Amino acid sequence: MANTRGLEGVVAAETELSLVDGERGHLVFRGHWARELARSRSFEDVAHLLWTGRLPAPEEAAAWQAQMAAARTLPEHVYRVMDALPAGLDMMSVVRTAVSALGAAQDWPPSLADAIRFTAAVPTIIAYRHARNEGRSPVAPRPDLPHVANYLYMLTGRHPAPDHVRALEAYLVITMEHGMNASTFTARVVTSTQSDMASALSAAIGAMKGPLHGGAPAGVMDMLEQIGTPERAESWIRSALARGERLMGFGHRVYKTTDPRALALRDVVTELAGEDPWFSLATQVEDVAIRLLEEHKPGRRLYTNVEYWAAAVLRAVGIPKPLYTATFTASRTVGWTAHILEQAAHNRLIRPQSVYVGPMPAAPTTPEEA
Ligand code: ACO
Repeated sequence: MANTRGLEGVVAAETELSLVDGERGHLVFRGHWARELARSRSFEDVAHLLWTGRLPAPEEAAAWQAQMAAARTLPEHVYRVMDALPAGLDMMSVVRTAVSALGAAQDWPPSLADAIRFTAAVPTIIAYRHARNEGRSPVAPRPDLPHVANYLYMLTGRHPAPDHVRALEAYLVITMEHGMNASTFTARVVTSTQSDMASALSAAIGAMKGPLHGGAPAGVMDMLEQIGTPERAESWIRSALARGERLMGFGHRVYKTTDPRALALRDVVTELAGEDPWFSLATQVEDVAIRLLEEHKPGRRLYTNVEYWAAAVLRAVGIPKPLYTATFTASRTVGWTAHILEQAAHNRLIRPQSVYVGPMPAAPTTPEEA
């Protein structure tokens, strides 16, 4: 029997949403190169593409942006639920709880209106709770601002710099969708039982939270902060690997070359923070880490993944570290909801099998025992 741990290489669905080619480092969203979309398209445009199969026509763009903006304000009870949560609860647990409290407009089948509602709500949830954590009055969403500018505006209360909006938008677009990753698979499993979108998303957020998936960028920042200077990189990384630790931001289940999202985000950071000593530290640590990972696990092809340069983008635009994974969630909600709609449209219960490897009882002596 083949080793089935981790379902590696198992095809769990047919999808029209994205192609992830791990050998060539290619990422395609519904017939478009993801890197090109991240360079040139808005969050709203790419959400439209993933949900409906096409980019909005120029004359549709303003009405579409307004439709998404109209869903940003949360029902009153969701704010009260967040206020009732204990201080110090991590942001992903807050987002998971608030998404669950938002509920679904309808149970089955999930709709495009549900997808818009949850996607528009997540930034408001994060910004509201962040303000409360800091003892500030939350900043209400501004429907006249595009999705990404509004997120930065709600986080700070200030009109964001255009280069920060573009950098964050590139990040939020390129991480929107990524095949059958752990959280997306989770969302599809829940949907396959004909459960509602809020339940599928709450489960997906739980999967996203783990450090092997969406929790890595904060770990990248911790690592770079501990390394501190390029000269310390080699000894720090050698010791971490000798202790059997994993380097956050490196390695990927599918990519056996540099993650194309990491390349795109590295370009974004180069433009934004080219002279920043921190950028130069990140670049040098990346080179040392790839060399030492090859020494540590020869032939395993461990390269930079999206989370390494995601941490750099998020830092450069001023997102606080405790919000990194939640900000990734604000992006991936588009991919999850697109998969939920796709799963529902061609639904079949997802129900794999397991192989029993435990002991057997004694042979039955009567028919009732069998
Ligand atoms: N640091 C050190 N060693 C590593 C790393 C790493 N970052 N990644 C893999 N390895 C080791 C594994 O322990 C394994 O060793 P073994 O064969 O002795 O057990 C070997 O390299 C091969 O690993 P893979 O089979 O390629 O890894 P797998 O597919 O199981 O895991 C994963 C992929 C979870 C992403 C892993 O590379 C990892 O833990 N990376 C660090 C966390 C991270 O950056 N996560 C973000 C991923 S991107 C995303 O989810 C959006």
